[in-house]
Amino acid sequence: MIKLINLTKDFKTTLAVNRLNLEVAAGEIYGFIGPNGAGKTTTIRMMGGIIEPTDGKILIGGIDVSRDPVGAKKIIGFVPDRPFLYEKLTGMEFMKFIADLYRVDPGVFSRRAVELLDQFALRQWKDEIIEAYSHGMKQRLIIAAALLHDPRVMVIDEPMVGLDPEAVRMVRDILKALASQNVTVFVSTHTLSLAEDLCDRIGVIHKGTLLAQGTVAELNLAAKTGEARLEEVFLTLVREA
Ligand SMILES: Nc1ncnc2c1ncn2[C@@H]1O[C@H](COP(=O)(O)OP(=O)(O)OP(=O)(O)O)[C@@H](O)[C@H]1O
Ligand SMILES: [Mg+2]
Repeated sequence: MIKLINLTKDFKTTLAVNRLNLEVAAGEIYGFIGPNGAGKTTTIRMMGGIIEPTDGKILIGGIDVSRDPVGAKKIIGFVPDRPFLYEKLTGMEFMKFIADLYRVDPGVFSRRAVELLDQFALRQWKDEIIEAYSHGMKQRLIIAAALLHDPRVMVIDEPMVGLDPEAVRMVRDILKALASQNVTVFVSTHTLSLAEDLCDRIGVIHKGTLLAQGTVAELNLAAKTGEARLEEVFLTLVREA
């Protein structure tokens, strides 16, 4: 479902992403981890069609994101790291605004919006303005809105930042449920305990280069760390790079 081929972003001052190659199968949850400044957000922005690659290609469900950005956006649910919210809108108005952008059928919208607000425990807040939401509520609203058009691929940059344990579990369970319905999930995170638990496979990126990828067991083999937890494997891989 996701194919990154020699994906490169050169900001001139920094080679942020350097010939990245990876594939994610339908229904798979792929975790993207790496130190600050490794190139995660840059990769994700290119996948979402926010910035253009310097070189290489991104295929989402076979669609080339650079050639057919509108077609790609139809099948991608995109959650950026610093989302922009119109805070004077209510939660429900925001959902409607996003639904209109994605041309969600109004009949489908009414059902789907309530379903998602329920799922993300936001239903009782739906008519409050977003300004009054806590950080975690805003984060949940953003993820809920990204699901309105029933995307086949979810691309999410650090969904768990600032969420309380209950909300982390809620988001984790929702992502797992999506994957079980064959939605493909690509997620960057610094929460390694969660990545370990949530992701089928994990890619470790450092200075724009993929150091290793696979299951935690495969990463342990690559790092020669035995049966260590992901945190230990990650620190070893990055230290030795
Ligand atoms: N618009 C830009 N212009 C110049 N350099 C940039 C730009 N955006 C990102 N960079 C640089 O590219 C590199 C990768 O940044 P990126 O934001 O992708 O890292 P990240 O892995 O998401 O880090 P973090 O964990 O801190 O979110 C960094 O060195 C950053 O300074
Ligand atoms: Mg980032």
